[in-house]
Amino acid sequence: MGLPGRGHSMTETNKTGWWKTVLGEFPTGVTLISSVDVRGEPVAMVVGTFTAVSQDPPLVGFFPGRESGTFPRIADAGRFTASVLGDGHEELCRAVAKKDADRFAKGAWVTGEAGIPRPAGALAWFDADITQVTSLGDHSLAVGKVTAFGVGNGDSGLPLLFLRGGYGRFAAPGTDLDPARLARRLAIIENGQGTLDALARRIGRRVRVSGVAGDSVVALGGASPRPAKPLRAAVFPFAAPFGSVFVAWDDERRRTWTENSRHLVGAVDRAAIGSVLERTRARGYGISTGFGIARRFEGLAGGSTAARGSFVNLWRELAAAASPAAGDPAEITSIQVPVFGPAGSVELALVLDDIRRGESPAVAVQLAGELLRAAGELSRP
Ligand SMILES: Cc1cc2nc3c(=O)[nH]c(=O)nc-3n(C[C@H](O)[C@H](O)[C@H](O)COP(=O)(O)O)c2cc1C
Repeated sequence: MGLPGRGHSMTETNKTGWWKTVLGEFPTGVTLISSVDVRGEPVAMVVGTFTAVSQDPPLVGFFPGRESGTFPRIADAGRFTASVLGDGHEELCRAVAKKDADRFAKGAWVTGEAGIPRPAGALAWFDADITQVTSLGDHSLAVGKVTAFGVGNGDSGLPLLFLRGGYGRFAAPGTDLDPARLARRLAIIENGQGTLDALARRIGRRVRVSGVAGDSVVALGGASPRPAKPLRAAVFPFAAPFGSVFVAWDDERRRTWTENSRHLVGAVDRAAIGSVLERTRARGYGISTGFGIARRFEGLAGGSTAARGSFVNLWRELAAAASPAAGDPAEITSIQVPVFGPAGSVELALVLDDIRRGESPAVAVQLAGELLRAAGELSRP
């Protein structure tokens, strides 16, 4: 049994404080409402109350407070743009939410077709003509008919969220960060370090060992043929279609892998993902292709967590490239070989991405054989 919750009637307690505390438990998106007032001045305010009202006709709305100095100017203008903010917009959002500051001083802005400025890279935006303003208590409901709408280019990451009085970001539910399981994986690496070192020396290339931890794939160890080729850090989202080696023999993980991808790129092509998994199973290991993508991937996976929003664009490209029609390509940039645990689940992957541009895919396929043998040794208890 958990701790008992707390409840108060409106008469028992400070109304405003308790009201805000309780409502603070309700997470909202963060939307910027902008317009150009009748004098031609741009105006903007941040709201957590943006909502879709109707699909046919297309209506959206929000609840401006009675005290708002900005809303009457928007109402007089008769139209607004609602822009859904991403986690990359936090600084811009804070600047707009400040009273009396220059609300357009931070971040990049673009002017939409309706002539209204909106934050560049808004995740979604709606141009609307105000059709109705209804006074409700100390707020109003402002409803607008949508005249144009669209989505952004993925540069601003995942949605910015507001909860318990602070900003945060969206994270997909993780199911895999089990300390005991992580310890088992580290033990496999420790016991197999001799095998990994011998493998790296034999093939003359760096090998990385990766595992799934929560919603990320993390490099947990590896081996290098020479000290001059040190191991590189790597953390990237555990999201389809990348990292198929962790899913192809492990059906339990498929839902998380697919959901994470949907949260990153917005939509998931289940047929394409199914075919990626099928090919990984048939081959016995995963492959990645395309040196341009590989270089950007390396930069992001080894970079700071602040850059993680940029994975969105990379994943969109990966997802687009993972078409069921695509066969095995001419340019292999990385291979990922499964290391099975005693129960048959994939505990780790041996990753070889020390592949030069211009090397024949046949070389990578031959090296995969070496990695598969080493992975077999690591799998033995
Ligand atoms: C996360 C967040 C959500 C907000 N939601 C609303 C809202 O739904 N309605 C509203 O009138 N103000 C909301 N505000 C406050 C406005 O951003 C702004 O501070 C308020 O409109 C006062 O400025 P003004 O007098 O220029 O309108 C919110 C602020 C933040 C930070």
